[in-house]
Amino acid sequence: MHGNIELKKMIDLNNLPNHVAVIMDGNGRWAKKQGLSRILGHKKGTEAVRHVTEACAELGIPYLTLYAFSTENWNRPKDEVDALMNLLINTINDELNTLQQNNIKLNAIGNLLQLPEQARNNLLQTIHATKNNTRLTLTLALSYSSHWEIAAMVASIAKKVKSGELDPEQIDQKIIEQNLNTYPIPFPDLLIRTSGEYRISNFLLYQLAYTELYFTNTLWPDFNKDEFYKAIIDYQKRERRFGKISEQIQQKNSEK
Ligand code: IPE
Ligand code: IPE
Ligand code: MG
Repeated sequence: MHGNIELKKMIDLNNLPNHVAVIMDGNGRWAKKQGLSRILGHKKGTEAVRHVTEACAELGIPYLTLYAFSTENWNRPKDEVDALMNLLINTINDELNTLQQNNIKLNAIGNLLQLPEQARNNLLQTIHATKNNTRLTLTLALSYSSHWEIAAMVASIAKKVKSGELDPEQIDQKIIEQNLNTYPIPFPDLLIRTSGEYRISNFLLYQLAYTELYFTNTLWPDFNKDEFYKAIIDYQKRERRFGKISEQIQQKNSEK
């Protein structure tokens, strides 16, 4: 499917976000509206994953992170959790060639030990097979939550202190960031959440400190390249001040 040429043309290629993160929400409501099972909504959602991944690669955005399954999602009915895990296994198998052909590196964050063995093995194999690809790093957040990540970060720092590798005095923002699961991926510039929910749902809490937030009512299975371009265009209208005043930012822009 090709996007709307006009929208794509409105994008300033010199002001792209370096990293886009997405909370892919609304598969269940999309399915309900169509009179289909929630599972078919998730299946349809994988097409939107393809559109957005392709759009990033084509525009030249080097990092894309997708919230695919949260720690809290384990509390869904067992048949839905099982179906999501099977979908994960099948999609990863089907997409390996596409990832290689498009020079896309697969990555994952989250408590992967909680995934069923086959899902984890497929995932790790594909991550390994694509590790030298350079065009786009596609990170899947699976069994991920920020509260889990922050607990793991503290445990990892504590271990280093205990072994003598690290002095407690040395602990600063940099050490914290280096022990997050997302390291060394830069923080997101733009977060997109679909389906009209205005919340973060335990996603990248530390990393989103200065991220621009974009919310749309579009349900994830309906999200396509044009929807993605709209989010980028909206992002490009924002002035990112990082605590400074507008004049300082404009001066810096005019020096470019
Ligand atoms: C997002 O869609 C996919 C996952 C969380 C796995 P939902 O399944 O949350 O869809 P809604 O929110 O019920 O519509
Ligand atoms: C957030 O969606 C998690 C993912 C998109 C994987 P949810 O549908 O689980 O979010 P809440 O629970 O409604 O906030
Ligand atoms: Mg939801």
